[in-house]
Amino acid sequence: MTIALLGTGLLGSAIATRLLACGHSLSVWNRNPHRAQPLVELGARQAASPAAAAAEADWLITVLSDGPSTHAVLIDQVGEQLKGRRVLQIGTIGPGESQHLSEAVIALGGSYLEAPVLGSRPEALEGTLQLMTGGPTELMQQALPLLRQLSQEPVHLGAVGSAMTAKLALNQLIASLTHAFSLSLHLVQQGGVAVEPFMALLRGSALYAPTFDKKLQRELSGDYANPNFPTAHLRKDLDLFISAAQQAGLNSEGLSGLAALLQRSSAAGLDNLDYCALHKLTAGRTAAAGPA
Ligand SMILES: NC(=O)c1ccc[n+]([C@@H]2O[C@H](COP(=O)([O-])OP(=O)(O)OC[C@H]3O[C@@H](n4cnc5c(N)ncnc54)[C@H](OP(=O)(O)O)[C@@H]3O)[C@@H](O)[C@H]2O)c1
Repeated sequence: MTIALLGTGLLGSAIATRLLACGHSLSVWNRNPHRAQPLVELGARQAASPAAAAAEADWLITVLSDGPSTHAVLIDQVGEQLKGRRVLQIGTIGPGESQHLSEAVIALGGSYLEAPVLGSRPEALEGTLQLMTGGPTELMQQALPLLRQLSQEPVHLGAVGSAMTAKLALNQLIASLTHAFSLSLHLVQQGGVAVEPFMALLRGSALYAPTFDKKLQRELSGDYANPNFPTAHLRKDLDLFISAAQQAGLNSEGLSGLAALLQRSSAAGLDNLDYCALHKLTAGRTAAAGPA
């Protein structure tokens, strides 16, 4: 099976590394070609353009930032090379964006399966991502041997849009849980309460989520470098969730403060840092006092 992967950013490069380790013949393309270079050293072929990458592929995997960039690369740049190709769209985009993309791919003679993932670089490298699919069942069946190398139990959720809906629902929880924990942690510290006994109480309660401990050390030390998932993508996903929730007629008002807070991430220089750098934004006027 020959695979082309477009977008060798944080997640795309880890998925490409996994596919190479599984023995696949892989061509890669990235807008900034330097970012694909380490994959060439692992055995990938670097294509000069998205269309050139697609020309040699049975499956075309996209792991690009968002809906507009995925549309630009796949439809505007791969274009007619989509004929007869099967697209596996992994980047997180809106359900409506995914449906439009699917229609455009099909109009060009290709087929389309959305396959967003929960988990990050470590899980991608180990093949233990949680992967959900939306699209034709037959295409999902064809993709299954490949999907099983990325995820132990890929879950098919229905038509195109369904997997992106589930992915946004999960990422809203990432944003909300990170925000909720961050504020509580700040208050505890500002109130002079020691963190460990507070954490022991929390861990023993029904309120605990493992993500709290996963991010605690970063939040205490203020070290948000070398992210697996950057703040800019968390903001994108929360905005996509709010827009999908509004279209569904839900009242997402409770999230608007968090969305406004995340809008400040760019000016604060946090966009390319780990998403729990949100903790710096919740610090408010206490931020000058120290890293946490
Ligand atoms: N990282 C994670 O843990 C994770 C987990 C689940 C889902 N995701 C989703 O996966 C997608 C990729 O995430 P990531 O963390 O790998 O992001 P990233 O490191 O920022 O990489 C983004 C990729 O998109 C490319 N790109 C952006 N705009 C482009 C444009 N206009 N034209 C062509 N290429 C463009 C970038 O190319 P350049 O290198 O040239 O900028 C890069 O290859 C996002 O939708 C994200 O939400 C990420």
